[in-house]
Amino acid sequence: MAKLYKEIWIVFNPKIHNNVSTTCIWHRPNVFSDGFQPFADNNHVRVVENGQQVDLILDQQAASGFGSKYKYLFGHITMQIKLVAGNSAGTVTAYYLSSDNPDHDELDFEFLGNVSGQPYILQTNVYAHGVGNREQRINLWFDPTADFHTYGFLWNTNQIIFQVDDKPIRVYKNNADLGVPYPNSKPMALYSSLWDGSQWATQGGLIKLDWTSAPFVASYRNFDGLDACTVYNNDISSCVATTSHWWEASAFQTLDNTQLDELNWVRQNYQLYDYCTDTKRYPTPPPECSTNSV
Ligand SMILES: *[C@@H]1O[C@H](CO)[C@@H](O)[C@H](O)[C@H]1NC(C)=O
Repeated sequence: MAKLYKEIWIVFNPKIHNNVSTTCIWHRPNVFSDGFQPFADNNHVRVVENGQQVDLILDQQAASGFGSKYKYLFGHITMQIKLVAGNSAGTVTAYYLSSDNPDHDELDFEFLGNVSGQPYILQTNVYAHGVGNREQRINLWFDPTADFHTYGFLWNTNQIIFQVDDKPIRVYKNNADLGVPYPNSKPMALYSSLWDGSQWATQGGLIKLDWTSAPFVASYRNFDGLDACTVYNNDISSCVATTSHWWEASAFQTLDNTQLDELNWVRQNYQLYDYCTDTKRYPTPPPECSTNSV
């Protein structure tokens, strides 16, 4: 499912780290160019508002995307996104963290477009040590094309929380004791891309992208939402030192009662699919399911 945006990633990734310097203490980007680089020409990645906003444009000429210049290991990573409005059927807006191959780790938000007036689906997935197949799908409780909303990851040594406007929509705990792999050693870059996913995105591929509705535009803000441990020259030692980072404090090791209520509310009212309850696919639920469900 992730094939098309992987192509973007593979083409552009090798150049990402050329400008890393060991003495750099750069941390949170203020404007797009501080922390990110485009993966398409400037007709398809438009930097606007003095670098405070980027618009990704999908048309018949090209798909579009960007990626962070640096990689991160643990932290709180958020961005504000306004999704493709109108007839977005067939489009996929992917927003994700990914490490390099082999055995890569990846945390995905994939927004599946729809015909005008019909709801987007938000699909999430977790790859750990190269293995994914952990899809969940929800509808959102707002129109994600009307305004910017905040989408993020709280990622520490104990858990990964997928957040929408600060509400947890999914948790993936460190279940190493159950033999479940956990992303905790490979730095990940942040990527986003907008591409034609007609083959599967809308009503399972039934509704294709309609180029007469192009250009398709998704917008991004708040580039300083990268509050995470930056990895320089593949040295992860400072990031795995759990005492030095706010996100490792005890308050962030588990979901509190408010977060549990919010997660339950999302599950009960907006969840469409959960691999953990797909008994055709998994007659026995994968081991992490028992602790990741509330
Ligand atoms: C699109 O709308 C249809 C009809 O409401 C719905 O069944 C479907 O889940 C929606 N989303 C996607 C991505 O297909």
